[in-house]
Amino acid sequence: MLGITGSVAAYKAVEVARLLLKAGARVEAVMTRSAERFLGPVTLSGITGRPVLRDMWDPSTPGELHVALADRADCVLVAPCTADALARFAAGRADDLLTALVLSARGPVLAAPAMHPRMWGHPATRRSARTLAEDGRVTLVGPAFGEVASGDVGQGRMVEPAALVAAVGAALGPRDLAGMKVLVTAGPTHEALDPVRFLGNRSSGKMGFAVAQAARARGAEVVLVAGPVAEPTPAGVRRVDVTTALELGAAIDAEVGPDVDGVDLLVMAAAVADFRPANPSDRKIKKAAGATPPSVELAQNPDLLAGLGARRAARGHAGAVLVGFALETGEDPEIVAYGERKLRDKGVDLVVANRADEALGRGTNRVALIGRDGATWLPEATKQALAERILDRALALSRAR
Ligand code: CTP
Repeated sequence: MLGITGSVAAYKAVEVARLLLKAGARVEAVMTRSAERFLGPVTLSGITGRPVLRDMWDPSTPGELHVALADRADCVLVAPCTADALARFAAGRADDLLTALVLSARGPVLAAPAMHPRMWGHPATRRSARTLAEDGRVTLVGPAFGEVASGDVGQGRMVEPAALVAAVGAALGPRDLAGMKVLVTAGPTHEALDPVRFLGNRSSGKMGFAVAQAARARGAEVVLVAGPVAEPTPAGVRRVDVTTALELGAAIDAEVGPDVDGVDLLVMAAAVADFRPANPSDRKIKKAAGATPPSVELAQNPDLLAGLGARRAARGHAGAVLVGFALETGEDPEIVAYGERKLRDKGVDLVVANRADEALGRGTNRVALIGRDGATWLPEATKQALAERILDRALALSRAR
């Protein structure tokens, strides 16, 4: 059951419905009255192939419509969910078809808040969100940080449709990665020059977050170690935030243990800084008129993935499946050659090679999967779709062990 409430983001509900159908779900839409001001019910019924449900009092539907809907729903997803709907869910109201459905739902209920950041930050909304979290019956997915309808930027943007569909998949239970523990690293590291400045890189974290989300949706227990990024945490994923390469290394070690067998699969999508300022200043570096600009001496960070590969090899190759990334510049054959070298040098099982100009900060990418049996280029696709292919390969490697 796809519930839609009155937010500008209602237009994205059409995409949510389409993706749910594509994923094999049967979708029925339930709209509030204010949702209809943003989206025509005919658009939705056209997509779902079913009547859009709006009225609790429709005499042509015998019995209690909300209970009948609740009985046939495996999952209720409210997207977008306004501040008002959130408050009504938290208060246990049942003053329209959607709130009555949410109150009588049997399975998981997910809601994707979409509102102006000031509304999300208001103590009343915070209180409603806390109440829902305590009650444990309605799980909020997001909101994400970003631009909202007014053009303001902040936390309040509805989580993207593909992520909502993945959250529904995760809420509906285990699939082919059930029983596996997966560690994903994502995003850049920031290496301090002084208390206000750092050396960093352009990694957005999108690829790693997509892998974490997909692994969770496929039933894995997922830990996501994230550098400084603005991506929302995928539902059901345990997130550990780090800043520097050394912190990232410590966070990985805490999960994988000395024998690299604390997890079944490690996907190392983080763009780890190879170097850090050797002597970061504990005070802000000042400029002085006429003085020579300071130079920065760098120290080398450990290669975390190579370290794990070596540690695993030292105990005879048992332990986690290791997947590394290689972000390169150059033409396709060079990229594969670099990737193959990384596969060997770092002692890992799979390298996902991609090109800086096709990967950085974008929602789509084109990658080569490089294993011991050779390299395959996958056609350009969304990072979510690539995440599924990477997990397919990793799962096959894990089963082959
Ligand atoms: N990596 C790591 N620790 C580092 C650097 C990289 O664990 N200090 C990991 C990355 O997370 C990625 C893989 O190694 O999975 C490849 O990263 P990349 O920076 O492309 O590789 P480098 O070995 O640094 O190669 P080069 O700088 O020669 O391109």
